[in-house]
Amino acid sequence: MVSRRYAVVVGGVLASIWLWLAFDRESIPARRIWYGPSNSKAGLISPSIDAFDFPPVDSEEMRAVCSSTKWNQSLVFTCDNNHGGIGHVRNSILNCVRYAIGAGGALVLPNIALRDEDDLGHDHGHAEKRHGPGRNGMEYMFDVNHFTDSLRVSCPDLLLIRHMEQTDSSRRRGLLPEHLFTNIPTSGLEHPEEWPIKLEAWIEEYMPSYPEKEPIIIDLEQSFLHYPAHSDGHKFAHTFGNILKFRPDVRRLATTTLNKLSEWYDIPLNVSEPIMKPSFMGAHLQTDNPFLEERHNSGVAYAHFPSQTAAYIEQAISAKIPLIYVASGNLPEIHKFGLQATASKMAITHKEDLLKDKDMDALERLRWDQRALVDYLVLLKAQDFAGVGHSSFSWQVVMTRHEGGDKGKGVLESDVWSDGLSTLYGVRSSYIESSECMWS
Ligand SMILES: *[C@@H]1O[C@H](CO)[C@@H](O)[C@H](O)[C@H]1NC(C)=O
Ligand SMILES: *[C@@H]1O[C@H](CO)[C@@H](O)[C@H](O)[C@H]1NC(C)=O
Repeated sequence: MVSRRYAVVVGGVLASIWLWLAFDRESIPARRIWYGPSNSKAGLISPSIDAFDFPPVDSEEMRAVCSSTKWNQSLVFTCDNNHGGIGHVRNSILNCVRYAIGAGGALVLPNIALRDEDDLGHDHGHAEKRHGPGRNGMEYMFDVNHFTDSLRVSCPDLLLIRHMEQTDSSRRRGLLPEHLFTNIPTSGLEHPEEWPIKLEAWIEEYMPSYPEKEPIIIDLEQSFLHYPAHSDGHKFAHTFGNILKFRPDVRRLATTTLNKLSEWYDIPLNVSEPIMKPSFMGAHLQTDNPFLEERHNSGVAYAHFPSQTAAYIEQAISAKIPLIYVASGNLPEIHKFGLQATASKMAITHKEDLLKDKDMDALERLRWDQRALVDYLVLLKAQDFAGVGHSSFSWQVVMTRHEGGDKGKGVLESDVWSDGLSTLYGVRSSYIESSECMWS
């Protein structure tokens, strides 16, 4: 009985081991530059342009970390508890990969938990209502080929497993790695290098040592803002997050949004620049939406519409940028913001305003969290950015912009943080410490 179960598990593992050779990796399009409407009208509608594409990660720093790992064939990690918006999901997946590498285990391709969109009036089947929204593969948000290609190049010993059933095994348990550490400061684990030792002790204590040949499967729970991203050096920290690239349709929609913005407002844009200047100000309007990531923070300054929009308009005025691109899942609030901005002689635009026809259809087919990815990309390249300190989405945008922008350290004055490229409102000094655990 036991040996048959073992055979089923191992058989499943082997059958699903990623077949690298079967991969289609011939078509990484070269970067293309779009020069704006005055130079090349034809480039505007071409769907083949992708301003947010980049090649698989080829990192010496990652290879160094991976080659110093003691790999263990009988250790398998799953990473299926990735809940929330892009800020949370992106970080928890990256943490899973980092923990799997640290322990030298194999990693089953992560899954993403869907969020219940009922509050936003979307259509749902009865099944979804009864069983909750369920899970999707990584492709729900990310480019899976890019992820596997990057890890194959930069961490060749990490075995990726395509899929694993919810097997029932005495050698399978859930774990939040941070639970093995006591006393975690806001800036993250003090000694992340102790993870493999702590894990081994935990396995010894909680996992039966038999059947010895059955793999030890550890279901990683969602880890957020505890792993210090810079503990393997700054170069590692700045590269690692690039193993996640957004899915191609989202990248294309974001590129089209920029193209349309350029055309409509007659601003020539070079989308190859990390930060496009002059262009527009990006603003993350996160008010009382049903997914507000940290409800308990609704009491903080800037959590609500009037304070956010007033601050954003003021920022655009002092930066002398007459156009604001608003990122929000809440259309009525965008329109309300628009009325307010018009009074200040400021133009407001957003993706639903810019995308038409087939592109609009494509946008509407996406779920709420996927549509937010389009905004996320557009915001990355804005000349200036305004967001809120209590949002991981805002922080994630800020940190990625910071990378591309080559700016100095951020400065916190009362509760407004700025690095010269982006400004966050309602920031506590503890948020800045936590941001050291966010992969840029
Ligand atoms: C792999 O890890 C398990 C659990 O910690 C341990 O019992 C086993 O000895 C390890 N195998 C190798 C080859 O290190
Ligand atoms: C567009 O930006 C890229 C990257 O910064 C730069 O190499 C290129 O020369 C720019 N093109 C134009 C036409 O300015």
